[in-house]
Amino acid sequence: MSAPLNIVILAAGMGTRMKSRKSKVLHRAGGRALIEHVVTTALDLTSAERIFVVIGHHADDVRKAVTHPGINFIEQQEQKGTGHAVMVCREWVEKLDGYLMILYGDSPLLRSSTLRKLVDRQVASEAAGTLMSAIMDDPTGYGRVIRKGADLSVEEIVEQKAANPQQLALREANMGIYCYRNDLFWQHIAEVGTNNPAGEYYLTDLVAILNRARYKVEAMQIEDPNEALGINDRLDLANVDRILRRRKTTELMREGVTIENPDTVSIDSDVRIGIDTVLEPFARILGQTVIGENCHIGAGAIIVDSQLANGVEIGPYTLIRTSRVENGAHVGPFARLRMENHVGEGAHVGNFVEMKKAKLGAGAKANHLAYLGDATVGAKSNIGAGTITCNYDGFGKYPTVIGEGAFIGSNSTIVAPIEIGAGAFTGAGSVITEAVPPDALALGRALQVIKPEWAKKRRARAKTKA
Ligand code: UD1
Ligand code: MG
Repeated sequence: MSAPLNIVILAAGMGTRMKSRKSKVLHRAGGRALIEHVVTTALDLTSAERIFVVIGHHADDVRKAVTHPGINFIEQQEQKGTGHAVMVCREWVEKLDGYLMILYGDSPLLRSSTLRKLVDRQVASEAAGTLMSAIMDDPTGYGRVIRKGADLSVEEIVEQKAANPQQLALREANMGIYCYRNDLFWQHIAEVGTNNPAGEYYLTDLVAILNRARYKVEAMQIEDPNEALGINDRLDLANVDRILRRRKTTELMREGVTIENPDTVSIDSDVRIGIDTVLEPFARILGQTVIGENCHIGAGAIIVDSQLANGVEIGPYTLIRTSRVENGAHVGPFARLRMENHVGEGAHVGNFVEMKKAKLGAGAKANHLAYLGDATVGAKSNIGAGTITCNYDGFGKYPTVIGEGAFIGSNSTIVAPIEIGAGAFTGAGSVITEAVPPDALALGRALQVIKPEWAKKRRARAKTKA
C-alpha cells in the first residue's frame, strides 16, 4: 500500500440495548472483551500508522481493558452518535496523510484479512471512500445500503429507524467499517446534522453528503456475512460468542487437534493447543492457556490461564487455574488445581485432590482425597489418601516441605510450618506437628489396643439381658 493509513475505533457508546451497568464493549465473547477483539484485528493490520480509540461511557474501564501498547485514546464527552464520535477526533486526525479507516467497537467478528482487502480496494479506486457491506438473511437493525447508477456505487445509507418499507426490504447491510480518503472525510464530516428520528449525528449520513459533492462512495460486499454481526443486545452477544468459539475449534482442528463433539467445547480466542491433543466433549479451555502436543483433556474439564506440556492427561471434571503441568503428568478426574501449582513430569494427581500454591516433584503421587496447600513435595514422594496440609491457623498461611521419596501415610494431618525429610515415612492417621528427619518414621496417633474375645463376651452379655 502506498499511502499511510490511520484507524479510529468507536467505543464510547452507551450500549443502551445491552441493559447493563458496564460499557457494551467490555462484555466478553470468545473469552475477550469485544473491544479487545477489534483492537487486536486493527493491530494485525500492521500497515496502520496510528490507532485511536474513542471512549466515553465508562471511559476509564475501557481504557484499562485495552492494554495493547501504542493505542491513543480520545474522549467523547457526550455520546451524540457515531458521526459525532469521529468528529471529536478532528484535532488529532485531520492533518494526517492518506486514509482513515473507521471501525465500530461492537463488531468483533471482523477479520484483519478482510480489512486488508477493504484498504487495497479503496487505495486502488477513485472513490472518496469504500464501506463494507454484507447480504444478511435478516438485516433488521442495520443501516441499508442504497446503490445507484450503472456502477452500483453507494448513494446513501438509510438507518433502520429512518427507512421506508421499500428500503427495509433491502438485505444489503452496512457493517460500520469504512475506509475514506482522510482529506475528504474532514472536509465534509461537519455537514452531518441531527435531522433524523434519533436526533443523533449519524456517521452513515456522510455517504449521501459525499454524493451531493459529486464524489463516489463504493461498497465492498464481504463473503461471510457473519463478519458483519454487531452486538447490540445480549442475544447478539450469545450468537457472536458461539460463532467465535466455532471459529476457534475449526481453526484448531485444521491445525491437528482432535475435538470430539466440538459444539459442546468452549475455547477462548487466545488459547494455543499442540497437534494430536484430544479434547473430549464439554471441555472448557480458557484465558491464556497453552496446551502442548499429544495431551488428552477429559470431558467437562475446565482449564484457565494454565500451561500443560506434552503428553499430559487431564481426567474428566478437573479444574485447573493458573498452574503448570509438566510432560506426561496425570491430573484428575475430579481434581482441583486452584492456583499457582506446579505438577512435575510424570506426577499423578488423582480424584478429589485439591492443590493451592503447591509443587509436586517429578513422579510424585497424590492419588486420592488430599489437600496440598502452600506445599512442596519432592520427586517420587507418595501422598496417601486423606492427607491434609494444615497451612492456615486462622491468621497466616504456612509452608509444608516434603523431601524426595517420602511416604505420607493415609489420613496424615501435617501441621505447617513443617518439614518432612527425604525418604521419611509418616504412619497412617498421624497428626504431624514436628519436623521429621530424613528416613525416619513419624507416628502421631493413639497406639492400638487389642482386647481378645471382647466381642464374644459382649454378645453373651446381651443374650442374658434378653
Ligand atoms: C451502526 C450504523 C449502522 C450499521 C451498524 C453495524 C450508524 C448511525 N449506524 O448502527 O448503519 O449497520 O452500526 O453494526 O452509524 N458509538 C460511540 N459514540 C456514540 C455512539 C456510538 O463511540 O455517540 C460507538 C459505540 O460504542 C459502538 C459503535 O459506535 O461501538 C456503533 O454504535 P451503535 O449504537 O451500536 O450503532 P448501531 O445502531 O449498531
Ligand atoms: Mg451496533
